[in-house]
Amino acid sequence: MRVVITEDAHTVASASAEIVCQQLIDQPRCVLGLATGSTPMLLYTELVRRYRAGQVSFSEAKSFNLDEYVGIDPAHHQSYRHFMQQHLFDHIDIDPVATQIPQGLAEPNIECRRYEAAIKSAGGIDLQILGLGVNGHIGFNEPTSSLVSRTRIKTLTRLTVAANARFFQPNEQQPYLALTMGIGTIMDARHVILLATGEHKAKAVKAMIEGPMCAMNPASVLQFHSTVTVVLDVAAASLLDARQYYHWAEKMRAKTVPKPFQSLA
Ligand code: GLP
Repeated sequence: MRVVITEDAHTVASASAEIVCQQLIDQPRCVLGLATGSTPMLLYTELVRRYRAGQVSFSEAKSFNLDEYVGIDPAHHQSYRHFMQQHLFDHIDIDPVATQIPQGLAEPNIECRRYEAAIKSAGGIDLQILGLGVNGHIGFNEPTSSLVSRTRIKTLTRLTVAANARFFQPNEQQPYLALTMGIGTIMDARHVILLATGEHKAKAVKAMIEGPMCAMNPASVLQFHSTVTVVLDVAAASLLDARQYYHWAEKMRAKTVPKPFQSLA
């Protein structure tokens, strides 16, 4: 696992944008796995900026989002489809039909099977972007999720519902079910990049990187993935015991690893 500790949310966004852009440059027809939540928003802003500056194109890429609320219309302002259009898709040259998000209004079991098959027929995910829940969830794989799970319907924990309540109006019905790629689906991605910022993520970050691997902390399964890059700000990294080592390793990597390989873990 490569652990990159940068100053703040802005430097997390630019370091991760660098990795995403390098992927698109090396392999323009790549398949991206995308995440929602507040953490990747600055990354998307940075990708839009780089696209507008002519530094990157998404025209041949495909994308699959991690999750979507069940029973929510894609046009609803809280749907993850709406989020992605607003923060990324509407501002770049990606082909709209190449952007997939689980359909929250479809029959869940059929939709989950369709989604898995679509990822497979696209050739699998080359670069998966992840955020991190305060309870260690990735996608909507809540604690105790099977570590080999595939795309399926999940009931959100009260903690997750409460954490996401800030996006909903007080009188608005907030979904507590979601369709999410499984942990096994995420683990099949060739490269995973996880972003976490802020002190409120520090405990989950510590458990993910330095804790034991267990279903109570779904993100800890990434210890078993061969190519993971975790990009943190100083606050999210504050509880890591081996922070000095991660800084040192990055310094040495910059000196000794040839540039084209530096974005790989
Ligand atoms: C949601 C999403 C996750 C995201 C998490 C953290 O539950 N399903 O993909 O990583 O929230 O969100 P935030 O980045 O807003 O802290």
